[in-house]
Amino acid sequence: MLSEQAKAEIRALQARYPVPRSALGPALYVAQRETGWLPPDVMAEVAGLFGLDPTEVGEFASFYHMLNDHREPGQYHIEICTNVPCMLRGSGLLADRIKARLGIDFGETTSDSRFTLEPMECLGACGAAPMFACTEKTTGKLRYFEELDTAEKVDAALALIESGRGFETTERWPLGPCRHGGKPETNFLLARVDKPDSHTIETYIADGGYETVKATIVGGVGAIPQRSPQQVIDEIKAANVRGRGGAGFPAGVKWGFLPKGVYPRYLVVNADESEPGTFKDRMIMEYDPHQLLEGIILASYAIEAERAFIYIRGEYFFAAQRLEDAIAEARARGFLGQNIFGSGKKLEVVVHRGAGAYECGEETALLTSLEGFRGHPRLKPPFPAVEGLYAKPTIVNNVETISNVPHIIRHGADWYKQWGTPQSTGFRIFCLSGQVKYPGLYELPHGTTLRELIYNYGGGPTAEAGEVKAVVPGGISMQLLDKDQIDTPLDFENVATAGSSLGSAAVIVIGANQSMVEVARRTLAFYREESCGKCTPCREGAGWLEKILERVERGAGRVDDIALMLYIADMIAGKSFCPFSFAAVWGLQSNIARFQPEFDAAIAAAKELPVIPVRPTYRPDPGVPSGVTEPSLPLEEKYNAPTHRR
Ligand code: FES
Repeated sequence: MLSEQAKAEIRALQARYPVPRSALGPALYVAQRETGWLPPDVMAEVAGLFGLDPTEVGEFASFYHMLNDHREPGQYHIEICTNVPCMLRGSGLLADRIKARLGIDFGETTSDSRFTLEPMECLGACGAAPMFACTEKTTGKLRYFEELDTAEKVDAALALIESGRGFETTERWPLGPCRHGGKPETNFLLARVDKPDSHTIETYIADGGYETVKATIVGGVGAIPQRSPQQVIDEIKAANVRGRGGAGFPAGVKWGFLPKGVYPRYLVVNADESEPGTFKDRMIMEYDPHQLLEGIILASYAIEAERAFIYIRGEYFFAAQRLEDAIAEARARGFLGQNIFGSGKKLEVVVHRGAGAYECGEETALLTSLEGFRGHPRLKPPFPAVEGLYAKPTIVNNVETISNVPHIIRHGADWYKQWGTPQSTGFRIFCLSGQVKYPGLYELPHGTTLRELIYNYGGGPTAEAGEVKAVVPGGISMQLLDKDQIDTPLDFENVATAGSSLGSAAVIVIGANQSMVEVARRTLAFYREESCGKCTPCREGAGWLEKILERVERGAGRVDDIALMLYIADMIAGKSFCPFSFAAVWGLQSNIARFQPEFDAAIAAAKELPVIPVRPTYRPDPGVPSGVTEPSLPLEEKYNAPTHRR
């Protein structure tokens, strides 16, 4: 049962939120740390502290991957990332090495209960792949072990964990920021990350940090003008800074949607960063957290919010620690709290750790999760700016978006717009991963071409890759481009014209030696795993597609499988509640469109006889409106009915 200390900790967590239920996830972390896992009696005790029925807590815990409600893991819970960017850099070999070293397979625990081993989806470390995360059960600490591309490094990482000293820090192993670079003239968001103690308030202030926000709110700092909240919004609007989380919606326009005179208002920073291939926000939070905090104070001032939340993915344990420390430092100096900069204005910032759910990157699912429920999306409208957190006006912006704010307010919109293109202004942190020599983060102007990013900064494809075969330009959700599109400028418009989306600017390079069927299968495995389960098309369809791809890959494909996959993909896209339905199938649809001969060859080489007879190839009928109900037939009968869509 829970100790008095744990109960006091949970009560303190509840006090951080306007509605105590928001603390349910953090409270379950406390309980899990104390008892090793979450058996029913422990969840019932937590339920009592929240005035909830135990089934409500069970329902919540069962949704989140990081809450162990079904079994107790070993002291060290190792989760190996197997998503596409890590797969392209040898996560399979890493898994084999660790399995051999520990003598267990995925899903197993060593007989001495020291290690549990599991596969995992993207952990936001794609530029330092292959990698694993390890959680120390008795402390609840989680640490990343990265760049594990040799047997020696794997041995060293495991030896460190076995020694009991693996969690003296939770900074990634090896220590320090991952590889990064870019053009010196557009190096702003990552400019400080290599400095010693770049995360502390002393070094941030020494570099001119917090001058902009102080000048804006109370004036009297150099040439930076004091501004009203509306003037801050106007400047961000004029800069046309577009959201960096994926959708690309202009931040200033979003801020302008807040209904007049409705309070309280909230700022929620989306730090869930779970789109495979994306690992930029993590760098800002770990190595320059005050830059983000200054952006949060400015944005909160502009939208007149007195509370801000940073919803950070649960696996970013070190980044969350760095943010908590930065908030404490800023509070101690009067930059946060009840009278910020002596202005009489208030602002409290709370770091809220998620618990492992990709869907919580979608803004309405994030808000539902932040309120203490399963991370299911909500219907829009109303949009969060009108009715968001606790049904109050809420602005949700990504970490990188908010980190741009101090720079724009300091130097002005015209300064910012000198880079990029008229519609895609400014600079961007591109996340380069996959089969290139130098994966990493590169801060460059919008409009930089794929070729320049991959060859000038990434060093070109690896020797094994040979040449570039395909590129994902904006995170695994986005459509693939092929090698003939390598001169595409990386801005919102040109990537759209090429048939994809810039998304989170996560560029994944796929080499000539890589099977595209495997890329497709691995991508669908991710969406099967990460569907929130609310809508049938995503929940069931992603799993069907993965199974079909799995049989094609192992040499048991059927002649009708491509048509079947395209049909299922069409039945998913746009047929669910949120954009997940598009994200789940765009990669597959574009993969087949560009690389169908590889799928054909895999099916032609199948060793098993097809069980479904040949029928005309299905292609989505543009004349059939989205949402048409299919006849309720068993799946195989449906596909054998030649006129079922006509
Ligand atoms: Fe492995 Fe992102 S950390 S794919």
